[in-house]
Amino acid sequence: MAISFHAVRTVPKPAKAAIRLVTGEQVAAGLPGVSAAQLENAGFEGKVDQTHTWPSGGRVEALVGVGPADEVDGVSIRRAGATIARTFGRHRRIGVLLPDTEVAAPAARQALAEGVRLGGYKFLRYKTEGEPVKLTRVDVAGGSGVRNQAALDLGNAVADGQILARDLVNEPGGTLTAPEFARRAAAIGRSAGLTVKVWDAAAIKKGKLGGLLGVNRGSDLPPRLVELTYRPKGKASGTIALVGKGIVFDSGGLSIKTGQGMMTMKCDMGGGAAVIGAMSVLPHIAPACRVRAFVPMTDNMLGGDATRPGDVLKIRNGKTIEVLNTDAEGRLILADALSLASEAKPDAIIDLATLTGACMVALGPKIAGLMGNNDPWIDQIRAASDVSGERVWPLPLPKDYRKQFESTVADMKNIGTAHGGALTAGLILEEFVADGIAWAHIDIAGPAWSDADDADITKGGTGFGVRLLVEVLRSFVPPK
Ligand code: BES
Ligand code: MN
Ligand code: ZN
Repeated sequence: MAISFHAVRTVPKPAKAAIRLVTGEQVAAGLPGVSAAQLENAGFEGKVDQTHTWPSGGRVEALVGVGPADEVDGVSIRRAGATIARTFGRHRRIGVLLPDTEVAAPAARQALAEGVRLGGYKFLRYKTEGEPVKLTRVDVAGGSGVRNQAALDLGNAVADGQILARDLVNEPGGTLTAPEFARRAAAIGRSAGLTVKVWDAAAIKKGKLGGLLGVNRGSDLPPRLVELTYRPKGKASGTIALVGKGIVFDSGGLSIKTGQGMMTMKCDMGGGAAVIGAMSVLPHIAPACRVRAFVPMTDNMLGGDATRPGDVLKIRNGKTIEVLNTDAEGRLILADALSLASEAKPDAIIDLATLTGACMVALGPKIAGLMGNNDPWIDQIRAASDVSGERVWPLPLPKDYRKQFESTVADMKNIGTAHGGALTAGLILEEFVADGIAWAHIDIAGPAWSDADDADITKGGTGFGVRLLVEVLRSFVPPK
């Protein structure tokens, strides 16, 4: 589904629907072209998600509420964009007029384009009778300037990256195996003009990625690690490394999950998908920093030679881990990837991972946990989160909790105690980040997947993290 967005002065004639986003105040004050009585009969007050439609001269006129004027922000405009795609997606061509609010014109246009694309997303690959959204062109009225057009194009491009991540997450684990994930990531990287390096099983062995090998040991299929590199045209303002968990299916291994617990575990590469989705938009964004991505890929299975609880793995950086629960596998593959990322000596690292059920217990299904070793870096990410609308919330990494994962046979074990599991996982990851590198860890176990359609979020893989990463890259300053 490709949609083009056009910044125009007024909604043009051929648009099959002319849609106005309106605040509660605008409705109360009276709107041109529709009587107060008509709106009152329909119960339309301009509240969030409310719509009102009527026919007019061969086309549809519509109102979409965005709520009280002082509460309108990028999030509510993105939400209205999604409502537009769901309600008017049967038309090929529509026009939209944005409300006059405090939101800057470009930011509003970016959010609108993102909302329309994301709300209209459907994963139809395996549906024999699915109906894709028909929209091909959206004219956005209120100003035809280049900045407005650029903002619409930016929103459209970022949504492309997020949709790409959704498609990867929604692909079943038996289809998107590690070799297939690597092939797709490489193809995406190449078409974006990035440098691509794919580590196969032999390279992974030679490179001593003992965590990735240990998790892969129960699988009939080989692991991969994909590296993508973006270099800016001019002198780079710094280097940032992105790391994404790429478990294409997590059965738990010998410490097997329940049937219920496994149902959504094709989403366990959601961090890797978000990293690849964000990398795919770099040519459009053209940030000034160098960006290096590392995505380790394998399934976590229980074949006859699977890693046994009690086995000891040696990670790339030389540290050893006793595996006492094979379901705590994300940290094992990320340990290798963070070691590798550290070797690239970036100014900062971010990893995204569907790492712990405990993080979902703490923050619920829509907010990611944010941890790290450098407060200015954490603050940059929080600021980018405010802009992107993908929510993160800080969690601590208490030094004295490290004794929870002391092992009797190895440098550490891969689990802690029953409580605070998101922090234990974060503290274990920290062991594999070289001293002096600013690092942040984002646990997206909750928001990588959704059980329901809600605004720009659609059921299944959400592509969470793409918008956040893009915004981080756009605003990146090497942290002190
Ligand atoms: N992939 C899971 C975490 C997860 C759970 C993601 C639910 C999304 C939704 C991870 O590999 C895992 O199994 N973590 C364990 C860790 C435990 C064994 C220490 C968990 O959270 O139960
Ligand atoms: Mn697991
Ligand atoms: Zn997992």
